[in-house]
Amino acid sequence: MKTPGFRGKVAAITGAGSGIGRALAEALSRQGCALALSDVDEAGLAATAASVSRDVEVTTRRVDVSNAQQVVQWADEVVRGHGRVNVVINNAGISYGATVRGGDDDDFRRVMDVDFWGVVNGTRAFLPHLERSGDGHVVNVSSVFGLIAFPGQSAYNAAKFAVRGFTEALRMELELTRSCVSATCVHPGGVKTNIAKATRVHSSLADLGVDTSRANETFERNFRTTAEQAAALMLRAVERNRRRVLVGADAQGLDLLQRLLPGAYQSVVVALGKRGASHA
Ligand SMILES: NC(=O)c1ccc[n+]([C@@H]2O[C@H](COP(=O)([O-])OP(=O)(O)OC[C@H]3O[C@@H](n4cnc5c(N)ncnc54)[C@H](O)[C@@H]3O)[C@@H](O)[C@H]2O)c1
Repeated sequence: MKTPGFRGKVAAITGAGSGIGRALAEALSRQGCALALSDVDEAGLAATAASVSRDVEVTTRRVDVSNAQQVVQWADEVVRGHGRVNVVINNAGISYGATVRGGDDDDFRRVMDVDFWGVVNGTRAFLPHLERSGDGHVVNVSSVFGLIAFPGQSAYNAAKFAVRGFTEALRMELELTRSCVSATCVHPGGVKTNIAKATRVHSSLADLGVDTSRANETFERNFRTTAEQAAALMLRAVERNRRRVLVGADAQGLDLLQRLLPGAYQSVVVALGKRGASHA
């Protein structure tokens, strides 16, 4: 963004009814930024709207990010209601644990529809409005799993790697065309939100030595960063116009592993997986 800080600006956030999206809304409202919030979870959305600072204008709308038409309608409504929009944070996401061999087609497609197409829809619907604001930023939430692959996460990996490629290409296009809009790709490690509980776990994960009856708890146990910490890091990265932001020490460690051993990291992950399975 050309002018520093978020005061007096308008930010649109998808998946704002929980976790990182809610923490972003709270942090931005404290900085004097007006909010356009969306989610498929209307109760979560209402709870977020109730938790943000009263000093800023807040609008909410039920939007399924996988539905391009809904996202376009929402973007138009945001500009009509708030007068402009300066930031879009394409944050909505779901996760799915399954093997490539065993997972269900519909679940694989749903992950791509929400996690990848949701980001594409949000970017394309808001971009013309961001350009008209004269001072815009696209923030796309990938994952550390957009940098490094993990067994049992193939659908999520595919979607989050795609978000990274899409956002990096977008950023370069914006620079080449001297746009007033910029873009940042976010790669969180484990963040304590609802995502681990909400993960759909397919029985095929048992083939990888995962105890599927406890998989959701096990995922959650490894998450260290709070949503508030994640939001603060993300907003600082946007203010500094970073191309990418790694959220959490785990994301930094895994990014380093992938860069030092771009192919061989897989042997490390497999060895750790085998050790984990033999201790289970
Ligand atoms: N929490 C983590 O450990 C972690 C790690 C890496 C990346 N991420 C990413 O961060 C983002 C936010 O996740 P979170 O951890 O806050 O999870 P969360 O489950 O707490 O919040 C995700 C929100 O997205 C909403 N959502 C789901 N499908 C939607 C759809 N089709 N349309 C609109 N909204 C939808 C949910 O209702 C929910 O409110 C996601 O993109 C996720 O993949 C999270």
